[in-house]
Amino acid sequence: MPVTTTVLGRGGPRVSRVGLGLMAMSGTYGPADEKESTATIRAALDAGITLLDTGDFYGMGQNELLLKRALRGVDRSSVFIQVKFGGQRDPRGAFVGHDASPAMVKSSLAYSLTRLGTDYIDLYQPARLDARVPIEETVGAIVEMIQAGYVRYLGLSEMGADTIRRAAAVHQVTALQIEYSLMSRGIEDQVLPAVRQLGVGATVYGILSRGLLSAAGDQAIGAGDSRTRFPRFQGENLERNLALVAALDRVAASRGVTTAQLAIAWVLSRGDDIVPLIGTKRRDRLTAALGALDLALNAQELAAIEAAVPASAVAGTRYDPAQMAALDSEKHEP
Ligand SMILES: NC(=O)c1ccc[n+]([C@@H]2O[C@H](COP(=O)([O-])OP(=O)(O)OC[C@H]3O[C@@H](n4cnc5c(N)ncnc54)[C@H](OP(=O)(O)O)[C@@H]3O)[C@@H](O)[C@H]2O)c1
Repeated sequence: MPVTTTVLGRGGPRVSRVGLGLMAMSGTYGPADEKESTATIRAALDAGITLLDTGDFYGMGQNELLLKRALRGVDRSSVFIQVKFGGQRDPRGAFVGHDASPAMVKSSLAYSLTRLGTDYIDLYQPARLDARVPIEETVGAIVEMIQAGYVRYLGLSEMGADTIRRAAAVHQVTALQIEYSLMSRGIEDQVLPAVRQLGVGATVYGILSRGLLSAAGDQAIGAGDSRTRFPRFQGENLERNLALVAALDRVAASRGVTTAQLAIAWVLSRGDDIVPLIGTKRRDRLTAALGALDLALNAQELAAIEAAVPASAVAGTRYDPAQMAALDSEKHEP
């Protein structure tokens, strides 16, 4: 059965119920194989996935070039391409800050359009709040690009409730991209109620907590994998987190599904306005992840899942301290 669809944000576009995140296809979690990545994108389209998520800084532009090659021969109007911009990297690939100034909006967009070989981007979003630039100015520049026809919809990424409200006062925000999983439930207090009130949809990432929420052995990480920097994957934190995953493994086994499927089904259970991004570079994992769409969880099962992985028991923050400090979404209102 093809993947079902949902509407992203109030009055927004109809997109697939889940999207495909392309980040790891350009190196973030160790090496990637272009042939398998391309086959994964094509398999996603064949399965009915229309929403494809990339960023201009993923692989320093290589991710967009990969997507362009993978979409050769595909009707442009059949896919919904969303692009993040603003992440600044040096020649070694190290992140050196965020620039979401109006000039950067336009310049980054011009390069993305060229790399993607397209006339428009469906949803364009600053990856992070640029603390030096009022959100109204960033959004204002994107709105100019919408009016000029280069962008269809406005998105935001990892922003807090106050910033989302300010942005929405300038222009309808179609979707917020933010981390959300059994292990990262921080959005439930302030961000999720705010986006729901404003009619903003959500495309959520890290639904497997970067691979942690999958069967033991699936989490192997090696050199060149950015997860080695994440506190949740380090030392004693990792041991404690894997103990939670082992408890989830038992719930999955009793339901006859995989741990990853259960974790994805839990995200899907949170509402139709939440579109999970499947982050894989392999066809077998994509197929497995899509199995979650057929998994209806009853109240008792949801309670067992949440009891196995109580968010308060997760050890370590979702990013390293410097990255956490740069997250507007982590700055809670009083
Ligand atoms: N806005 C932001 O700040 C932001 C930040 C990060 C990511 N994103 C977006 O969100 C997307 C997804 O995020 P993510 O990849 O970090 O998080 P994720 O989905 O939590 O984790 C991905 C990890 O899970 C593994 N995996 C995927 N499907 C699996 C399955 N069925 N069984 C077992 N393991 C499985 C993947 O391995 P394999 O690849 O080997 O399958 C990969 O190691 C990215 O591609 C990107 O588009 C956005």
